[in-house]
Amino acid sequence: MVTTPVLPSDYLDLVSPLRAGADLRGRIEAVHPETDDAATVVIRPGRGWRGHTAGQYVRIGVDVDGVRLWRAYSLTSPTDRQDGRVTITVKAIPDGKVSNHLVRRAKPGTLIQLDQATGDFVLPQAKPAKVLFLTAGSGITPVMGMLRDTEFDDVVMVHSAPQPQDVIFRDDLHALVADRKLRLTELHTDTDGMLDITRLDELVPDWAERETWACGPAGLLDAAEEHWTGRGVRERLHTERFRPAIVVTGDGGEVTFSTTGKTVDADGATPLLDVGEEAGVLMPSGCRMGICFGCVTPLKAGAVRDLRTGEITEAEPGVLIQTCVSAAAGHCAIER
Ligand SMILES: Cc1cc2nc3c(=O)[nH]c(=O)nc-3n(C[C@H](O)[C@H](O)[C@H](O)COP(=O)(O)OP(=O)(O)OC[C@H]3O[C@@H](n4cnc5c(N)ncnc54)[C@H](O)[C@@H]3O)c2cc1C
Ligand code: FES
Repeated sequence: MVTTPVLPSDYLDLVSPLRAGADLRGRIEAVHPETDDAATVVIRPGRGWRGHTAGQYVRIGVDVDGVRLWRAYSLTSPTDRQDGRVTITVKAIPDGKVSNHLVRRAKPGTLIQLDQATGDFVLPQAKPAKVLFLTAGSGITPVMGMLRDTEFDDVVMVHSAPQPQDVIFRDDLHALVADRKLRLTELHTDTDGMLDITRLDELVPDWAERETWACGPAGLLDAAEEHWTGRGVRERLHTERFRPAIVVTGDGGEVTFSTTGKTVDADGATPLLDVGEEAGVLMPSGCRMGICFGCVTPLKAGAVRDLRTGEITEAEPGVLIQTCVSAAAGHCAIER
């Protein structure tokens, strides 16, 4: 009662934001540039942090221009780091709100919100005898987490980036090669062109025998899934996507955000999450690709289309939709 309307925990948050029992938070303690447009962010998680498995990602909530935005980032630190801190490594993408903020503007001391680590892009309990990492661009991040955590008996990596100076963790990778802990094929797409997946026969002749983890742009992952399926070894390929595979679009419509009372026109390809944010509506989100359910919102009227499957969902009492992978299918209203 003494502290009403502010709760005692709000005062505690001011003096001890990382304490046990507080909403899980982290403090950015350093930002190290990796390339011109990528940086590693060192985070001290609060007391409730339960650790991670190499290859997993964490959802973080960052305030950008006064708006809390949630994004997912793979953990790049080893799981047994002695100082208890964790790292994520972020590549700034053109017009990217959070990635540019973290790479170019985030300052040590900044508090962020954290979720527990999650994700199934991880190694099995028994270390595979032969491993292939197939990565491109920022897709190297979860794999670096694995390489820093585990010594493999036989591991090959095929990594693509536009130019040598764009290769994130290049020095670390070359140090592993020098120590004979990794065989690396580094492809520079500005000069070599995009990897043609059939070149794997020449680059890694025994690729089909290897347990493979692949992470990179959709084109690479789609080609890999087809290639592994074609050879009948799809179960040996594990993929991590940073963006949803959008396969079906259709006609859009008028979208009403029933709580805020805003109505905007939307096409049938843009996720309602983006439509809402663009209209200035506060939209909860997390991974932005249909895996974390951080964006679920009641559908009050009309219909939406799942951009991954084309499935239409119509409004009924209690129906929830994932706004990050749903687009308007005609007029619709969602509770935001
Ligand atoms: C499981 C998971 C793990 C991830 N791990 C990492 C990681 O380790 N490092 C990392 O840098 N990113 C990672 N991402 C991507 C990250 O979550 C963000 O999507 C990315 O940083 C862009 O966010 P933004 O706010 O800067 O861009 P936004 O402001 O959301 O988008 C700006 C524009 O870029 C487009 N866009 C959005 N995401 C991408 C993308 N990934 N590539 C190209 N264009 C995009 C949007 O459609 C939009 O047009 C991961 C994503 C997932 C789902
Ligand atoms: S934001 Fe993760 S499922 Fe939509």
